[in-house]
Amino acid sequence: MLKEKSLLMIPGPTPIPPQVAAAMTQPMINHRGEAFFTMFDEVAAGLKAVFRTEQPVYIFPGAGSGGWEAALVNTLNPGDTVLNVIIGDFGERWSKTAKALGFTVERLEFEPGQAAQPARIAERLERDTNREIKAVLFQHNETSTGVTNDVHAIARVVREHGALAMVDSVSGLGALPLEFDAWGLDVVLTGAQKALMCPPGLSLIAFSERARALAEQNTTPRFYWDLRAVHASYLKRQTPYTPAISLYYALQAALRLIKEETLEGAWARHKLMGEMCRAGVKAMGLKLLAADEHRASNTVTAVIAPSDPKLLRKTARDRLGVQLAGGQSQLENTIFRIGHLGYVTPLDVIQALAATEMTLALLGQDLSLGAAVSAAQEVWLRNLRG
Ligand SMILES: Cc1ncc(COP(=O)(O)O)c(C=O)c1O
Repeated sequence: MLKEKSLLMIPGPTPIPPQVAAAMTQPMINHRGEAFFTMFDEVAAGLKAVFRTEQPVYIFPGAGSGGWEAALVNTLNPGDTVLNVIIGDFGERWSKTAKALGFTVERLEFEPGQAAQPARIAERLERDTNREIKAVLFQHNETSTGVTNDVHAIARVVREHGALAMVDSVSGLGALPLEFDAWGLDVVLTGAQKALMCPPGLSLIAFSERARALAEQNTTPRFYWDLRAVHASYLKRQTPYTPAISLYYALQAALRLIKEETLEGAWARHKLMGEMCRAGVKAMGLKLLAADEHRASNTVTAVIAPSDPKLLRKTARDRLGVQLAGGQSQLENTIFRIGHLGYVTPLDVIQALAATEMTLALLGQDLSLGAAVSAAQEVWLRNLRG
């Protein structure tokens, strides 16, 4: 096998376009000078377009998890209670972050493979007559189970109560529809290494006006993530510390590609890839963790493995050159996942499906080769014909 060429079909980090890779080779510049300010302006405008907001989108060097911390420490006072809507492992981890920071976490859990029901969130919030819940935390897209929450509907019930609507859109933003301003969201965070087609290393986060006003007054200790300093620098087209300049170049190039495709175009491409992937998986005779009626994700597909998922992934990687993702936590030995977000095309999905069929055949499963590929092709063809 040509080891160099492998198809990365995991839900992040995702493949990066050649333009993004090339952009990072540009020389270093003074981050307190005109060249940086010009780039800052373009990136700031591009991010506002992708987040669908008029508010500033702040850039921290960091991983998506840093965004969780920034969201919490800037908007909550010590000991405040948050309602954490958990539909999978990333919900669990945001809970852990909030607990580690000393906030009180109330959990509202849903079955793995299902989306959160806005009515159940509403029911819990209605009982909070003393308004003790200050924020509701939830995932836009739960990467560990391949499920997309109805952010708009959840935000509506949260606003009715008055708590802050805080959304982790690490594996959603740029690929799945999200309207920061129109849906009345308070915090949305993401990482650059998913649908934004960049290498890992940037945490991007938007705050509503009222969330930013809270950051001016709250007393939670913070320094690195302190929005007051970051916002003051933002107004001067800078950051309080040295920015990750090469990653800004990467993001600038990626945002240009999104502008060229259009955000709606990117959303449509991901919808198509999600539909193709699910059709292919079903045609292979495999079961999806999340059914379509449970809001299956268009960025990552979780599949119940017919046999040991670790052996399946190893076989796909070592013998066919395709990298699939495993399950997390309690799903580790149950599922495997196909990521289809970012710099990925329908043809990549077909390759991943072909490789999965080949893997199953190599592992001795009785299946008819090509069934998944052909089901995915049918979906694509219907889409192209309109
Ligand atoms: C939904 C979601 N939230 C948060 C994270 C954490 O991001 P990071 O690994 O960049 O800290 C991930 C990572 O995959 C994710 O998928």
